[in-house]
Amino acid sequence: MKFSNEDLTYIKRCFELADKGRGFVSPNPLVGSVIVKDGKVIGEGWHKKFGGAHAEVNAFASSNEETKGATLYCNLEPCCHTNKQTPPCVPVIISREISRVVISNLDPNPSVNGSGVKQLREAGIRVDTGILGDEGKEVNKFYFKYVIKKIPYITIKIAQSIDGKISTNRDIQTWLTGKDSVKYVHELREKYDAVLVGANTIKVDDPQLTVREVKGQDPIRIIIDGDLSISPHSKIIKMPGNEKTWIFTAENSNQEKIEQLEKLGIKIFQLPADKKKVDLGDMLKELGKENITSLLVEGGQQIFSQFISHGLFDEIIILQSPKILGQGISAFETNVLKKLKIEETERLGEDLKVVLIENQ
Ligand SMILES: NC(=O)c1ccc[n+]([C@@H]2O[C@H](COP(=O)([O-])OP(=O)(O)OC[C@H]3O[C@@H](n4cnc5c(N)ncnc54)[C@H](OP(=O)(O)O)[C@@H]3O)[C@@H](O)[C@H]2O)c1
Repeated sequence: MKFSNEDLTYIKRCFELADKGRGFVSPNPLVGSVIVKDGKVIGEGWHKKFGGAHAEVNAFASSNEETKGATLYCNLEPCCHTNKQTPPCVPVIISREISRVVISNLDPNPSVNGSGVKQLREAGIRVDTGILGDEGKEVNKFYFKYVIKKIPYITIKIAQSIDGKISTNRDIQTWLTGKDSVKYVHELREKYDAVLVGANTIKVDDPQLTVREVKGQDPIRIIIDGDLSISPHSKIIKMPGNEKTWIFTAENSNQEKIEQLEKLGIKIFQLPADKKKVDLGDMLKELGKENITSLLVEGGQQIFSQFISHGLFDEIIILQSPKILGQGISAFETNVLKKLKIEETERLGEDLKVVLIENQ
């Protein structure tokens, strides 16, 4: 179906509104809604926080005008299921006598997946779907991956030198990128449900994995530590907010250490392991059960290489520094690059951001 310029304008506005919920609605999708009557916007809303009212309901609440005969735009199919905290939106749209609904994407959630559209059509409402569908999927890429695969959307973020090194030596910290990249990483963290590093990165870099350079919520901080070898004096253990620190370890790890960490409020996940190495697939399934829809993998080398060699990623972001290290460790074998294509590039001060995705 060919959509009008007016339709395109209002659905783009839905994307903008939807994005305002980023960081607050997970594991729910980002949804924005616009109500238009006689060429005039009479209501706008978005899903503001998990458990709160949905975008369509907020759009109706924002308007005192008569909605009979209006068109409702929404980037995701309105919900019709009742097995959740908030009441379904479809009956509200029907009761407000909307005459046309325009949607980007059907909701892949099996409880909806076309049923919302079906119920609207059965009520005599014209429903047009698929407008800017690819853009809609990009807005909700975390949600789509999580609902369909039941594991988080995975982004691997690597800072590297011109000669492809992430550090001169695995036991020392090497600063590679400039302040623009640092700010960008904090912006990224704010968008993800969780960030993850390996135990040696905690020992060597002693990161906090919080959002400090921009305003926003801290993600869950995940450490993979098969042997529980990180120091109790690490910043990540000593700082406040330990309920946001999760450690994945082998099932036969030291019980005394587990109890000490748990006393500090840290959540410990024990998984079956081979030589203290847990299976990353098992860990991702566990994260899915914990409603983690998006995961930012921040290193180090062992972690990068396991995720990449097992194809456990949706995108790789390389922060390319103009430095030459001359020696050191690399995040991945260069032959991996043959399977990838460049999706986006952007200057970040002296660095270059390169986003890679699988070449389908
Ligand atoms: N440039 C960048 O983007 C970047 C980012 C981060 C780090 N780095 C650098 O990378 C270096 C660290 O890399 P690295 O390879 O030595 O360490 P790492 O990947 O951070 O951590 C390795 C450790 O994580 C644990 N681990 C890894 N996979 C596991 C699994 N499947 N199950 C259980 N535990 C697992 C093990 O800890 P246990 O000891 O508990 O068994 C292992 O020794 C440092 O020099 C750091 O500065 C660079």
